[in-house]
Amino acid sequence: MPPPSQLESLKKHSLVVADTGDIDAVARWKPQDATTNPSLLLTAAEDPRYRSLTEQAISGARGDVAAAMDQLFVRFGAEISKHVAGRVSTEVDARLSFDRDGSIGKARQLIALYAKLGVSKDKILIKLASTWEGIDAARVLEREGIHCNMTLLFSFAQAVACADAGVTLISPFVGRIYDWHKAARKVADIPIAEDPGVASVVRIYNYYKKHGYATQVMGASFRKTEQILALAGCDLLTIAPDLLEKLSTTPGPVERALSPEKAKREDLQKVALDEKAFRWMHNEDAMATDKLAEGIRRFDADARKLEKLITSLAAASAVPAK
Ligand code: E4P
Repeated sequence: MPPPSQLESLKKHSLVVADTGDIDAVARWKPQDATTNPSLLLTAAEDPRYRSLTEQAISGARGDVAAAMDQLFVRFGAEISKHVAGRVSTEVDARLSFDRDGSIGKARQLIALYAKLGVSKDKILIKLASTWEGIDAARVLEREGIHCNMTLLFSFAQAVACADAGVTLISPFVGRIYDWHKAARKVADIPIAEDPGVASVVRIYNYYKKHGYATQVMGASFRKTEQILALAGCDLLTIAPDLLEKLSTTPGPVERALSPEKAKREDLQKVALDEKAFRWMHNEDAMATDKLAEGIRRFDADARKLEKLITSLAAASAVPAK
């Protein structure tokens, strides 16, 4: 028998999630859950394999571009959900990142659209930016039974506030933290033992487990397989198809790096954060403030590109866009 691949070994320690809007890739990898974001859905919508799905979303919206965007996110999510036993994450429009009530309204709308397609809310995680307003929106949504995945999470302050809000899951980013520090230090790589993205997830995981928070930790945004393997044991890890491929073609055992038992032995004091303290603590972290702001701009820019694509496809099929 061939030795197990790193992917098989990793699955003994963490739930593996596919980070993609590519439905065929999800079908191939059969992950537990899947995550999407506006950039991933832009790539998927531009793919000729999914043109008919994109067109269905446009015609279902009867010429309204905003409605077509919602339809597109939900139709891709519904197709993806056919291939996962667990949940699909769908992101709320980045333009609502500082609008608590707008985010709540959009999340309810997305869940209602999923219900029309026969996908129940327990199969969906609503992704919201981890701003104060996004976290506050998640607090309300969770009480209604709408489960949330807090994204664009770079600082410890964001993680503390998400746990206090009782959110289902957070996605602390690894790769974008690594990118920031590489650029700041003007180096081509940072060795795994000093990787600040990995260190950020380890700290958050240990803090959550030490203090008994139920919020799940899903490491996200990876640049290399070493970052993923260094987080073996994290509740979930969301991984892009190219890295899933690498992990599946590399044989090897994977040692568990994170565990609740190890976390319990860490000396991590509980932190209390009200809004002012949250804003102050997050603002003290230059990387996190840069990356949160940039992340919102990037998701917004890709959502606008998607709107342009929808408008041009609607014009081509003679469905007028409002
Ligand atoms: C997943 O939830 C995130 O949106 C994703 O991992 C971001 O990855 P990136 O930094 O490669 O864009």
